[in-house]
Amino acid sequence: MTDLLLLPGDGIGPEVTAEVRRVAQALAPELSIDERPFGGASYDAHGVPLTDEALAAAKAARAVLMGAVGGPKWNGVPRDKRPEAGLLNLRAGMGVFANLRPALCFGPLADASSLKRELVEGLDIMIVRELTGGIYFGEPRFIEDLPGGGKRAVDTQVYTTSEIERVARVAFELARGRRNKVASAEKSNVMDSGLLWREVVTDLHRREYADVELTHILADNAAMQIVKAPKQFDVLLTDNLFGDILSDAAAQLTGSLGMLPSAALGVPGAPGLYEPIHGSAPDIAGKGIANPLAAILSFEMALRWSLDRADLADRLFAAVERALDKGARTPDLGGQLTTAQMGDAVLAEL
Ligand code: IPM
Ligand code: MG
Repeated sequence: MTDLLLLPGDGIGPEVTAEVRRVAQALAPELSIDERPFGGASYDAHGVPLTDEALAAAKAARAVLMGAVGGPKWNGVPRDKRPEAGLLNLRAGMGVFANLRPALCFGPLADASSLKRELVEGLDIMIVRELTGGIYFGEPRFIEDLPGGGKRAVDTQVYTTSEIERVARVAFELARGRRNKVASAEKSNVMDSGLLWREVVTDLHRREYADVELTHILADNAAMQIVKAPKQFDVLLTDNLFGDILSDAAAQLTGSLGMLPSAALGVPGAPGLYEPIHGSAPDIAGKGIANPLAAILSFEMALRWSLDRADLADRLFAAVERALDKGARTPDLGGQLTTAQMGDAVLAEL
């Protein structure tokens, strides 16, 4: 069985996953590593962004680490063959419904944030984003021509009780190991799916997690609070679309999108999917200057959540912290290191 399947993907994906490979080989040489083309790279090679074989390999691995997908090169490709469709099919195919997106501000980077140091120093938010439902997957979805000219486009936001409950459970469990607070964000003031979301979370809380402090917050207010007083949040639970948006906002608080890892988990024992949240960054792809820390920290999460090596995860996290303390900075953090030099800086601390 493969321990770690790498899906480098597109843009800066191959550059940052190459550093993960080096770190993994140094830290845990016993892990078996395999690799498949994914996203646009797979579309170019096989005509689809995710082959059946690659999905089967992902489901058979213990952990999957993806780099990034997409880029202007594939703009004209039909939506179901676009690199992003490969990612959605991978998430759905692996059944990874709970997306953990930590927004953690490393002390030495507090000045790289667009907010004042005192607002972000010590920040530690865990966003739990529902990942395999909602408007990303709801049917029907289409664009149709209208008889009198013009068009009509439809996307569908849909959630069931069990979809909400299983992701809410992950948020409550995580909170118990942290500061014991969950804020659940939806738009129950205008959306029926938001109303059901609030009901299901409230009910689960009453039945099983009354010891955890639960607040409900409207998603627009959550966006405002994230940039106003982000440290009020511990675990922030939300749906697929709001989670996409709120996690980018939270990411910027930490100094750079290039720092943030994520883990997507399904039922216990199933492989997790680990991704840096930064995307393919076509503007800097191929230049060797992308920050590999989000990918390296995604591997750290894989060690913790899928590979049963919390000991190695702790060592890797400490090594990243020390490298930053000593001033290791890629250009997104205001420095000059190349991708490989940042990898070297982490390896030196290991
Ligand atoms: C993310 C990305 C993806 C998403 C895209 C690339 C499909 O923005 O992981 O946040 O919207 O989920
Ligand atoms: Mg996003």
